[in-house]
Amino acid sequence: MNAAEREKAKRNAGMKAAEFVRDGMIIGLGTGSTTYHFMVRLAERIKAEEISVTGIPTSLQTAIRARELGIPLATLDDHPDPDLAVDGADQADRDLRLIKGRGAALTREKVVAAAAARLVIVADEEKYTERLAGTVPVEVIPFAARPVMLAVPELGGEPAIREGKAKDGPVITDNGNYIIDCTFPTIPDPAGLEEELTLIPGVLECGLFCRYTQKTILVAGNAAGTRIIGKN
Ligand code: 5RP
Repeated sequence: MNAAEREKAKRNAGMKAAEFVRDGMIIGLGTGSTTYHFMVRLAERIKAEEISVTGIPTSLQTAIRARELGIPLATLDDHPDPDLAVDGADQADRDLRLIKGRGAALTREKVVAAAAARLVIVADEEKYTERLAGTVPVEVIPFAARPVMLAVPELGGEPAIREGKAKDGPVITDNGNYIIDCTFPTIPDPAGLEEELTLIPGVLECGLFCRYTQKTILVAGNAAGTRIIGKN
């Protein structure tokens, strides 16, 4: 898939996911470029069909974009049990276990995914993979960064504090923490690794999402359309 095809694939996935929205729903709004396509289509539906929906944003970026698009927003304090969450992913395996967090929003994304009745993942189909492997982002309180860096190699990972692109020094998440990107050549037991990473003191959350497979569907986009994977 070249860059233009990937962009079409993401757009197709995002647009398709908007079909899952019904009038009156509370919707978790994930973070990233594919979710943005979903929000654009959702905003069109809100205007054209006069449906009433409320979004729960998972990041500052999503909150800003949703406001620009005219999507009404609330928080989990107002609506602790969204009907649906729509979010992107960096990888999804055949059991719909996920790696997320390229955008450093993984903790709020996981909170919303856990709270929602259903999770719709939007991604280009090249992210649908036989086995998860590679970089698992981990959100860590700054106080614990060094001990976490020392603990990750014991689990087989190579840790690196994520640096800003247009800012010197570490990326600071919406929650005021660091992201430690932990690279694993293979991940034979994703659920076990998720548990072990989140048990390290000072780790807030990790980007492995293995507990929501029963309520997850994947809208896998390609340049020509989409494929729905998972229980409907
Ligand atoms: C942000 C995420 C994103 O949802 C994930 O990285 C996918 O992003 P994109 O749709 O831009 O490829 O987990 O923390």
